[in-house]
Amino acid sequence: MDRADLTPDLRGSKLAAAPGPRLTRSRSGAILDLTHAQVSLTGRKQMSSTVNASLDDRLAAWFDGDPVAIAEGDAMWREVRETAPVYRFGATTLITRYDLVKELVHDNARFSSDHSRKGSRADAAFAALTTDEERQAFREVMRFESHFMNRNDAPEHRRLRGSASAALTPRRVKQVTDAIEGHAQASLELLSGAGEDVVDLIPFSYELPLRVICDLIGVPAEDRLKIRDWGVALSKNRHGTKAKELVGSYHAWLEFLEYVAHLIERYQASADGADQLVTMLMNAHGTDRLDPEEIASLFVMLLQGGHETTSNLIAIGTYHLLRTPGQWQALVDDPSLIPNAVEELLRYVAPAQTASRRSLVDTEIEGVEIRKEDTVIGSLTAANRDPAVFDDPEAVDVRRTDAKRHLAFSFGPHFCLGASLARAEANVALRTLTQAFPNLELPSEDVEWDGPWNLRRIVELPVSLGR
Ligand code: HEM
Repeated sequence: MDRADLTPDLRGSKLAAAPGPRLTRSRSGAILDLTHAQVSLTGRKQMSSTVNASLDDRLAAWFDGDPVAIAEGDAMWREVRETAPVYRFGATTLITRYDLVKELVHDNARFSSDHSRKGSRADAAFAALTTDEERQAFREVMRFESHFMNRNDAPEHRRLRGSASAALTPRRVKQVTDAIEGHAQASLELLSGAGEDVVDLIPFSYELPLRVICDLIGVPAEDRLKIRDWGVALSKNRHGTKAKELVGSYHAWLEFLEYVAHLIERYQASADGADQLVTMLMNAHGTDRLDPEEIASLFVMLLQGGHETTSNLIAIGTYHLLRTPGQWQALVDDPSLIPNAVEELLRYVAPAQTASRRSLVDTEIEGVEIRKEDTVIGSLTAANRDPAVFDDPEAVDVRRTDAKRHLAFSFGPHFCLGASLARAEANVALRTLTQAFPNLELPSEDVEWDGPWNLRRIVELPVSLGR
């Protein structure tokens, strides 16, 4: 294997060369073993193994978004669950057992959703910032994000969720859902247009949810690329733990706020504006009325919550269907299995990997002490593969009868507001792909993974269209 294949990060920090164990220091400082390194199909990046690193080092690397640790995240979470269902990891408590994760996300009385600007992880992130600019960005980004409904508890959460639900009228949602089919066909062009047999599936899986979320927000087609770029910058910020990404996200926020102000003006002046989400939110009465900053926050929340999650479900889900013998063919032969396949992929992929909370009280879970202000993170990945709930949980099975019990959309007051839209998109994506490319295949299972930790993704997914 050529050293030049290593990512710049890994190349720069290599501690030892072959023969013998190949060690490297990850971005987080964890020492990782590259002995089982493989070259990805594209040859652009190195996949390697972390198997010999300690669990805490792998967790540190995973939270740091290290591609090596991200690639092996599912096995790592299984190990965390098997080691202890409530696991102390530095300032954070990790919950991995299905029943405990369900209780955690449901119990907003003990565990607050306001976790990213307060609590042990937020305090550690803020303390690590080194410049005034970074600290200013932290405060401002956290202030914007404090309007996200998923960062609020009752009664404020009820107000924000109620306003959004009231504006997402059945008529509005139907308009958006009816258009998914057309967007899927248009996105398909990105695959078949080039006339190649082996193509990258990611542009398809990225484009379809982007179009849908832009429809929902009322973003005109010509502005979609701007939205995509802001979405990338915003989603890079992981609760302020990375200074550069935090500052980038702050600037994207400012631009996005300006854009939403422009959208409000535009729709208030136009005849068809009355039907747009932004106008409905602005014109609502009483407590349902949102101010422009709250509207911008809701849009960012919808964009962040609804775009990459759904893209990853489609891409990573298709990857697992193709690498598990018989699963793709089952959907080609019997499309009526697709809705259940979507549930199984939600279970298996868990596109939003975690749900975070902040403890409001001194308490304990399963005998493990949790102090007031501790950050507590539920792993939806680990819960969705808990053998106490799912038979043979590490297998992908589109005929699994209880797949729908997954926690991929969380549970309780914060259950995903876009679940039905995400399900509709994934159903249309799989129907479109199985119909267009019944012989779709993976030329290789080696793919390049990347973070951030909560939203891991496949960077390039080469597939053979088999036409
Ligand atoms: C496969 C795709 C998706 C997944 C896996 C997913 C996952 C989740 C999860 C796990 C939560 C709850 C987090 C918590 O308990 O703290 C959530 C909340 C939310 N999601 Fe989704 N989501 C997806 C798609 C969407 C889409 C398409 C939209 C919008 C159109 C959306 C909008 C929201 C909103 C607004 C919330 C906040 C709900 C609240 O706090 O009351 N999501 N989502």
